[in-house]
Amino acid sequence: MCGIVGYVGSKNAQDVLLSGLAKLEYRGYDSAGIAIYENGEVKISKTVGRLAALESMLADSPLSGKVGIGHTRWATHGKPSDENAHPHAGCASDFAVVHNGIIENYQQLKDRLMVAGHRFVSETDTEIIAHLLEEHWTGELFATVLKVLKEVRGAYALAIMTQRDPGKLVAVRKHSPLVIGLGQGENFCASDIPALLGYTRDVLIMEEGEIALITDAAVECFDLSGRPLEKKVFQVTWDAVAAEKGGFDHYMLKEIHEQPRAVRDTMSGRLSEDGKRVTLPEIKWPDGFVQTWDRIHIVAAGTSYHAGLVGKAVIESLTRIPVDVEIASEYRYRDPILTAHTLVIVISQSGETADTLAALRISKERGVRVLAITNVVGSSVAREADDVIVTWAGPEISVASTKAYTTQLIALYLLALYLGQERGRLGAEFVADFLEDMRELPKRLEEILGSSPWIERTAKDFSVWEDAFFLGRGTDYAVALEGALKYKEISYIHAEAYPAGELKHGTLALVVEGVPVIALVTVDALYEKSVSNIKEVKARGAHVLAISWAGDEEIGKSADRVLYIPRTRAELAPVLLVLPLQLLAYYASVARGNDVDKPRNLAKSVTVE
Ligand code: F6R
Repeated sequence: MCGIVGYVGSKNAQDVLLSGLAKLEYRGYDSAGIAIYENGEVKISKTVGRLAALESMLADSPLSGKVGIGHTRWATHGKPSDENAHPHAGCASDFAVVHNGIIENYQQLKDRLMVAGHRFVSETDTEIIAHLLEEHWTGELFATVLKVLKEVRGAYALAIMTQRDPGKLVAVRKHSPLVIGLGQGENFCASDIPALLGYTRDVLIMEEGEIALITDAAVECFDLSGRPLEKKVFQVTWDAVAAEKGGFDHYMLKEIHEQPRAVRDTMSGRLSEDGKRVTLPEIKWPDGFVQTWDRIHIVAAGTSYHAGLVGKAVIESLTRIPVDVEIASEYRYRDPILTAHTLVIVISQSGETADTLAALRISKERGVRVLAITNVVGSSVAREADDVIVTWAGPEISVASTKAYTTQLIALYLLALYLGQERGRLGAEFVADFLEDMRELPKRLEEILGSSPWIERTAKDFSVWEDAFFLGRGTDYAVALEGALKYKEISYIHAEAYPAGELKHGTLALVVEGVPVIALVTVDALYEKSVSNIKEVKARGAHVLAISWAGDEEIGKSADRVLYIPRTRAELAPVLLVLPLQLLAYYASVARGNDVDKPRNLAKSVTVE
């Protein structure tokens, strides 16, 4: 996730772009840059670091012009660096391109362009666009961009300008957000509405596969075959603070709603062209290594640890490699048994958690290969691990982790399938079917988001209690742990997760009349046992919310309330199950008037022991 902004008009473009980027920093902040058309040339100023670094650079050497584009980056391809910062130019430096998204086939295109003599200066996928523009130049920017897009596969929002055809911006949207701002004698484009609010409240929301030609006098929209489109102007009525959260009341809710997109992005670029195999191009194990792992240690903290528990279940089931999941703060002090055949996987949203980093370092000191799953490309964990799978969730601002967890699960599913496929354990058809089901997840997540009002009412009822219990068996238990953590950290209600069969060994004593129990019931093989556990707590007066598959007609006879989630393959249930639990925690926290995004005593990144 990155932020892009563009301007054509009569104002000083540098000021407009910097103010827009300031509103988009929540989308990424590891580097920033702008390009401005100045005295017949496209001039670029960019630097690694937050926007403040770019501002001080421009204070010393300002750019002056009326047309420009800008970018604030959240690295996906290539570490945060001056070279990888956007905008990107081609060999002759007369184009400027800013991009949010992932170009899936960039490596093939880059190889071809290099053979044709193009010189690349960055490690980004974006730079290929600038070189393709040079290759396909028609004498006119808009027509050239249409030609280039025919070659490009993936997700992108782009803003493009060139000194060869000045006074114009071309903006494109495919699977990454982009809006156009309409002014008097000036027009804008941006990844998100807050960047525009200082200038206009009249916007065009670009839809999938749309392209716009923007000048100071007009905005024309087309589909990707160049057919003109009629678009309706949307009047923004939100205030600036609400707009920064995309109209949501809190970042947490916004991030919960971003999960369908985040899941799609995290899969993108990691499958074969026909979508039937996992390719994971970022894994660079030496030849034959994939066969050698005979034990996997997953090490993480908090929510990332909970993702690891689901990872264990899926890796063991798809590969039969034994997996241990360990809490990083314990692992680092317990002299783990590591051999040349152990693969250590560290999971960390921030990539900076001190305990997880220490576990990584200990493993590396012992000569073990470490694979990191992280959301931050330039983080310490990403830099020090041997291999890195980046979760393309985009920056997570709310302290309570939501979209990072879901994308960690996606990364773990892809890894499990990859291991199973490369070790010859999984048939081609099984992998293709599994991936097909994974591609359906964003749609299913959207369906569950539709139940938000029902979940809000339930959360309100539950929020008057000082306790809650989350029950599950198998992977339902792993998700119950995450549900309980979310609940306690933002609602401040005491919440415990239990393997449903374990309650009777002590905790059942805490179940009293009316206490909320959230029972997860998606493991078909253990269905009857889970229902018995529901009856067990019901008999002690608990008020039970069961979450089960759509079509389960029996569960309503045992539970007080039932939330149905759409059917998917059993292994993927955690991705769907966690969403109502996140919403339950969110609405309970709101009902209690808490500071949802900044819960007491907690920090987003725990860089100390
Ligand atoms: C809970 C939460 C924390 C983090 C934990 C690890 O919502 O966010 O439990 O999961 O502090 O952080 P990372 O994943 O950054 O290593």
